[in-house]
Amino acid sequence: MQKQTLLTGQTLTFTGNPFEVPWEECVRINSAGAVLLDGSRIKAVGDADTVKAAHPQAEVISYSNDLICPGFVDAHAHYPQTAMIASWGKRLIDWLNSYTFREEARFCDPEYAAAIAARYLDLTAANGTTTVASFATIHPASVDALFSEAAKRGQAVVTGKTCMDRNAPDDLRDTAQSAYDDSKALLEKWHGRGRAQYAITPRFSPTSTPEQLSALGALWAEHPECLMQTHLSEQTDEIAWVRELFPQARDYLDTYEAHGLLGSRGLYGHSIHLTQREVDRLAEVQGRVIHCPTSNAFIGSGALDLPALAARGIPLGLATDTGGGSSFSMLRTMAAAYEAAQHHGYPLHAAQLMWLATAGSAHALHLASEIGTLSAGHFADIAVLNLRSTQAINQRANRSGSVWEDVFATIMLGDDRAIRATWIGGICTTG
Ligand code: GUN
Ligand code: ZN
Repeated sequence: MQKQTLLTGQTLTFTGNPFEVPWEECVRINSAGAVLLDGSRIKAVGDADTVKAAHPQAEVISYSNDLICPGFVDAHAHYPQTAMIASWGKRLIDWLNSYTFREEARFCDPEYAAAIAARYLDLTAANGTTTVASFATIHPASVDALFSEAAKRGQAVVTGKTCMDRNAPDDLRDTAQSAYDDSKALLEKWHGRGRAQYAITPRFSPTSTPEQLSALGALWAEHPECLMQTHLSEQTDEIAWVRELFPQARDYLDTYEAHGLLGSRGLYGHSIHLTQREVDRLAEVQGRVIHCPTSNAFIGSGALDLPALAARGIPLGLATDTGGGSSFSMLRTMAAAYEAAQHHGYPLHAAQLMWLATAGSAHALHLASEIGTLSAGHFADIAVLNLRSTQAINQRANRSGSVWEDVFATIMLGDDRAIRATWIGGICTTG
């Protein structure tokens, strides 16, 4: 029999989507809850007394009043931008040219890629993040680096070779054919191996020719089990550039749609400045919109009207967008999502924010049967939050009338100091 471990504390569980039903009906915090781990999976979730009595042999780890929740799922990031996060003063296209492409060029060195992949997964785990969907660089070895490092940790990650065959420096350009060939070889090597999930990854329409987008669309049609990740409608000047580059397209989304790159397994990062047709089409095909609120504030892109997209039934994920985003922390990202929604007159509840960062992102990545909630049979990917991690939070918690007030204070004021422990595949990686 595998080793069984019982985590006791306050447990956060979901039985539905708090954007579809009132949060009180589908999100629960059990103040005396427990999660039973059996090897790499969750075996039971319930009242501590009951689960303990049924499994007396399990080793008990008591987290007292800490919040045991699903590990955070960061649905859009660029691990190669780890070392240049917080680079000053540019808007999107200048930021890419001044900082990002230079850093990504360094990933021609597989040893550098391996070192940054390890550093990135250390940093994200320290922030309670257990799964990431990350862009790599154009170098196939940068994909190998992240998948290999994740496999060592028993961790589910989504990544793919970033494809660019125009409007990028010479040393960061591939071709339509090599993008197809390299992506195909990588997905055949990695997709479904252990917990690895491959995403076909055209960076965004400005850096791909129509020929490259078509080649990647064809590859996706041959491998519909893979995800596809890209960027959509992030900044107004970017959208104007896309209009010049694709004069026949009805809109930005159409540059993907026309090349076979629109579908429910498509992840569309940002998607801030959408037209009505784009919203309608995403809703119709259930394309995933990935909200990157710290990045949208940092690069000055705008405030996504997430509640409006939720009301249309578009599946939503939440993401740091490291290093356009200004933090590795999904707590900071939830705070930014709260602030962005306030611009649209909608105060997101802490239960909705926690759902976005866990179950919502897992659903966006089509991994909701494996991760994103504390459920029997799921992987034991868990974050344990100290709800009194700093002086500022502690004094606020002293005034709190409910656990949800505590959770909201940790969302708005918390960071990696709030992470008591991170469990990945049943192994405690921190804390
Ligand atoms: N659009 C195309 N590439 C990127 C990137 O690396 N970061 C962000 N934020 N937007 C992009
Ligand atoms: Zn991005």
